Formats: sequence, C-alpha cells, structure tokens
Amino acid sequence: MTITDTLHRPLRDLRISVTDRCNFRCVYCMPKEIFGARYPYLSHDEILTFEEIARLARIFTSLGVQKIRLTGGEPLVRKDLHILIKQLAEIPNLDLTLTTNGSLLAKQASALKAAGLQRVTVSLDSLDDGTFKAMNDVNFPVTKVIEGMDAAAQVGLRPVKVNMVVKRGMNESSVLPMARFFREKGYILRFIEYMDVGHSNGWRLDDVMPSAELIHIINAAMPIEPLNARYRGEVASRWRYKDGSGEIGFISSVTHAFCRDCTRIRLSAEGKLYTCLFAVKGHDLKSLLRNGASDEEILETVAGVWGARADRYSELRSENTAGLPKVEMSHIGG
Ligand code: GTP
Ligand code: 5AD
Ligand code: SF4
Ligand code: SF4
Repeated sequence: MTITDTLHRPLRDLRISVTDRCNFRCVYCMPKEIFGARYPYLSHDEILTFEEIARLARIFTSLGVQKIRLTGGEPLVRKDLHILIKQLAEIPNLDLTLTTNGSLLAKQASALKAAGLQRVTVSLDSLDDGTFKAMNDVNFPVTKVIEGMDAAAQVGLRPVKVNMVVKRGMNESSVLPMARFFREKGYILRFIEYMDVGHSNGWRLDDVMPSAELIHIINAAMPIEPLNARYRGEVASRWRYKDGSGEIGFISSVTHAFCRDCTRIRLSAEGKLYTCLFAVKGHDLKSLLRNGASDEEILETVAGVWGARADRYSELRSENTAGLPKVEMSHIGG
C-alpha cells in the first residue's frame, strides 16, 4: 500500500528515536548548558517499549515504509537494543539501519549484526582529537570511534557511512584530512551542512559551510565528479573520485533543500509522530497504543497524519520561521 501527502510524496522511510539520551554533548546538538543533570529526560515508563515500537513498525511497513533507521539521542545507550533489532529484522523487505556516534559500537557490533542489523552510519566531525573533543564536549577520543567503525565493517555491517557536520570556524580544517582518510578506508563520508534544528544550538547562517564550497576544496585536492542519485529523494548528493578510489556525499539541507521529495516520518522515543525534522508538534501514538487501539485504528491515524502533511520547512527557511517552537534534534534523531 502507498499513501501520499498533500504534495504527492509517498511515505517510504521511518526514523525511530529509541532514546532522548546521549553520552556526548555535541555543541551543535546537546550543549552542556542546556542538557545538564537537571534536564528533564524521559523516564523509562514514558518511552515506548520494544514491543510497542515493533508493532508500530509493522503498521508503517504495511503503509509503504521500506527503510527504518534507528536514531536517538544515541541509540546504543538504550539497554539491549539488539532485542529490538531482532524484532524489526523479522519484517520482510526492509532496509534496517542505525545512526550512532560510534562510542559503543566496538562492543556491540557483533550482537547488532547477529540480531539482523544491515548497516550503520557513524557520526564523526574531525580526525583531530582537540577539535573532536571540543565538538563532543565529553573528552571522547577519535580512535575509539574509528575502532567502532572498523568493528562494524569487520562483522559485515556494510557499507559503513560516516556523517560529518561541518561548522565554519570549528572543523572546516578537518574536511580534507577526513576525505583522505575515509577514501583510503573505503567508508562513504558525507558532509552535512549545519542546520538550525531545535533551539539549543544558537544557529547562525554564517556558521554553515555550503556544500558548493566543500566540493570546490575537495575537487582541488582530489578531483571528483557527480554521480546520479540512486533513487528519487536521496538525501545525499553522491560524488566519486575520478581515479575510481571511492565515493563521497554532500547533504545540503540548507543551501539545496530536498523537501520536494521528502518521504520521511519520525517517531520520537515517547511515541510522538513528526512529519518533519523541524516540526513544531508531534502526533501522540503512545496514547493510542496504551489505550488499546487496534492495528486498523493506528493505521488510519497514521494515514490521516501523512495525508494531511504539507511540510517543507527547509524550502521555506526564513526569518519568519526562526522564532517558532521546534523539537530538539536529540528528541527525534537526525
Ligand atoms: P542512507 O541513504 O540510508 O544511508 O541515509 P541518509 O542519506 O538518509 O542519511 P542519514 O539518515 O544518515 O541522514 C544524514 C543526515 O542528513 C541527518 O543526520 C540529517 O542531518 C540530514 N537529514 C536526513 N534526513 C533529513 C530530512 O528529512 N530533512 C533534513 N532537513 N535533513 C535531513
Ligand atoms: N545540523 C546538522 N546535522 C546535525 N546532526 C545533529 N545536529 C545537527 C545539526 N544541527 C547530525 C549528527 C549526526 C546525525 C544524527 O545528525 O552529527 O550525524
Ligand atoms: Fe549525541 Fe549525536 Fe547529538 Fe552528538 S549529535 S549529542 S552524538 S545525539
Ligand atoms: Fe523533509 Fe522537513 Fe527535512 Fe524538508 S525540512 S526534507 S520536509 S524533514
């Protein structure tokens, strides 16, 4: 079954945040001043159980979802995540993946693979320890993240993709070293333009390094050429090194918004459904689940929410939207 929204976009991807907690305090996502000990994180009773998540996932796939990505916060801090993965892996014809900061990956890679996870995307913003630590703000070293990636590749969670958020004045000098290093390793590096998600990160347009600028820098050192998108609505624009040594990507959510083909819906850890990364309000599915709703009732609700969807925040990004209340990135994943 395929359902479409008011802009004729089908529902294809479900991103599930399994926790709002994280062991990093990245300055652009969970700055320490706000996400301190007194921050009101969700309690265990407030977050969806694995059974609730798996039940919703089955309903979503019957509505056309083909890809499920687990996110957080940091998904690997959720206890026994492999049990959820096992439940999700039973759903046929699903691309099942996870976005992680990599800190706990070396430890968990083989259990995740055994449970049926297919691949991983690991966030890393620099190869320089000083820069990386200034960004994760918990003194976490680069080597441990790379060990996590290597463990994932080794157990077959491939292809390994690496996400680097580029913030001007912070880690732009890491762009070329990262490109060289991951070309060598054969992992697909993608540069993400720093976005104005949530309210905590004090975003300014001047902090964004446009992909065009990065392409120029990389091309001058290691010539690259564009590749065709693999499917309509692919988030990253893909490029290859002309010498055939691999692929890199650019996620230009600020300078080239891709709302037109956005097929993504997001489920927060507390069971709210968001039709946009920049949504102001979520639709509560947890109450339905916990008040005994049938699968049909939940399916009707989700179909109604998607059918009414008109979001295209990144295309409309302007002064007018800056003041609106928005959900934090750590609540709905990236
Ligand atoms: P695969 O193609 O399955 O590997 O995943 P992907 O390309 O969708 O990449 P991923 O899920 O790792 O997303 C990478 C980053 O792109 C996210 O962390 C966000 O920063 C950004 N992003 C992903 N989806 C959206 C979206 O719907 N809107 C906006 N504005 N940004 C997004
Ligand atoms: N802009 C762009 N990407 C972000 N991420 C977190 N916050 C932002 C932001 N403000 C990225 C992380 C990770 C993914 C989950 O989202 O670095 O790769
Ligand atoms: Fe944690 Fe990822 Fe946010 Fe960093 S970007 S604080 S690793 S959730
Ligand atoms: Fe989709 Fe909203 Fe991102 Fe646009 S801003 S691509 S509608 S999630």
